[in-house]
Amino acid sequence: MVQIKNLSKEFEEGRVKALNGINLTIKEGEYISIMGPSGSGKSTLLNMIGALDRPTSGEIFINKHNLADVKNLAKFRSKTIGFIFQLHNLIPTLTAKENVLIPMFEARGKGKDKKKKAEVLLKKMNLGKRTDFMPTKMSGGERQRVAIARSLANNPKIILADEPTGDVDSKSGAMIMDILEEINNKEKTTLIVVTHDPVIGARAHRKLKMLDGRFQEEANS
Ligand SMILES: Nc1ncnc2c1ncn2[C@@H]1O[C@H](COP(=O)(O)OP(=O)(O)OP(=O)(O)O)[C@@H](O)[C@H]1O
Ligand SMILES: [Mg+2]
Repeated sequence: MVQIKNLSKEFEEGRVKALNGINLTIKEGEYISIMGPSGSGKSTLLNMIGALDRPTSGEIFINKHNLADVKNLAKFRSKTIGFIFQLHNLIPTLTAKENVLIPMFEARGKGKDKKKKAEVLLKKMNLGKRTDFMPTKMSGGERQRVAIARSLANNPKIILADEPTGDVDSKSGAMIMDILEEINNKEKTTLIVVTHDPVIGARAHRKLKMLDGRFQEEANS
């Protein structure tokens, strides 16, 4: 599903080496957590897998497509990947439902069906009564669940979640993980979760640790 070969990423003309020769193979339907100290390269790695940024060197294959050869990355991304960002990144001037609709703009289908789908996704997230709320009127956990609904808009094959439970209490965090794990279980969606929380990290089937832009030995489960 995902194959990463000798991936490196530098910033600031090489003064910052965020990733140092990463190799990783991820099978379809896997559930992986990535932990490691602040600055170890976790978000940079997710951004590379999610085709949000280009590597300095090395290769990433997703479903056998080399990302370097993909012409329209935005289209590829919207069809294949659901991204939950470190700080949910909801658009504050749009309602919950409108935020969920954003990734569907480019997809085929009628506007009416898309709106229905956004409502169904929000209902699944237990936000049926919040579809027309602005993010500022919602709690951190609710906002994060809107972000999850948005990430599911195009039925992605891969969900990349960067600290999905970062700014919510442990109960909401557990609920968010329950939702993501159910999708992983039922739809066989590949799930990659970056987290600082050891309890959350331990829930994954495969646990990876990063340090200085590299993987440390894989932790035993
Ligand atoms: N756009 C950028 N320009 C310059 N340096 C960057 C940029 N993005 C990340 N870095 C640097 O790359 C390194 C890895 O950053 P990254 O955001 O991947 O860390 P992280 O493991 O996600 O940390 P955190 O747990 O705090 O989110 C850090 O040293 C960071 O300062
Ligand atoms: Mg980060």
